[in-house]
Amino acid sequence: MENTTEIKAVNISKSYQNDKKVKLEVLKSISLEIEKSKITVIVGASGAGKSTLLHILAGLDTPDEGAVFYNNKNIFEFNENELSIFRNKNIGLVFQFHHLLPEFTAEENVFIPQLIKDTSLDKAKERASELLELVGLSNRATHKPSELSGGEQQRVAVARALANDPQIIFADEPTGNLDTVNSEAIHKIILELRDKYKKTLVIVTHNRGLVNFADNVFEMKDGKLL
Ligand SMILES: Nc1ncnc2c1ncn2[C@@H]1O[C@H](COP(=O)(O)OP(=O)(O)O)[C@@H](O)[C@H]1O
Ligand SMILES: [Mg+2]
Repeated sequence: MENTTEIKAVNISKSYQNDKKVKLEVLKSISLEIEKSKITVIVGASGAGKSTLLHILAGLDTPDEGAVFYNNKNIFEFNENELSIFRNKNIGLVFQFHHLLPEFTAEENVFIPQLIKDTSLDKAKERASELLELVGLSNRATHKPSELSGGEQQRVAVARALANDPQIIFADEPTGNLDTVNSEAIHKIILELRDKYKKTLVIVTHNRGLVNFADNVFEMKDGKLL
């Protein structure tokens, strides 16, 4: 692997069987490289297999065939415990539906993941307030999700994804539910994460607008990269 490569996927295949035992090939021998500290966008229509691919690249799901290398190490050779430690340390996830904890404030949603990692409460709180500042929500720290707009909730979800300072951020339709103004706020954060923090971003979306922000674009159709 070259040292500008963050992730290398080789011949990833994945099928599902429906209840009539018909095999559905969702990913058909996909190979790709994700560049370090760049924005990679994988774009394609609904059903193309984008979310499935993202889950496999992030080690949340396993392929039927193929390998995903980080630093020349195939993550599917890790056992479950090693893989979960690897993910917690290196990977941040942002989904279209943010899954914030409804009974906790914005700040708590951002510092709770850090406590799982044995960080002290004071340190976790300090980092949460830095991250809320990064996403422009310092003045909403004590609001619960229900007291935030959809766009603000998504920005909290981005802050939470950064809580453990992962090098790589995976986002699945991060602006899927948002209007133009809120989408632009997310775009700005994505660019800042690359430019200021040198993060590696992998975004899957059907929204061609995001292609404008990408350093690298892959087009996906029917389980293949074009
Ligand atoms: N757990 C599953 N069981 C069966 N089929 C699935 C499952 N997950 C996804 N699929 C099917 O795989 C295809 C690709 O899904 P997905 O990766 O979510 O596509 P995209 O994110 O591009 O919309 C779809 O046809 C979907 O119905
Ligand atoms: Mg999807």
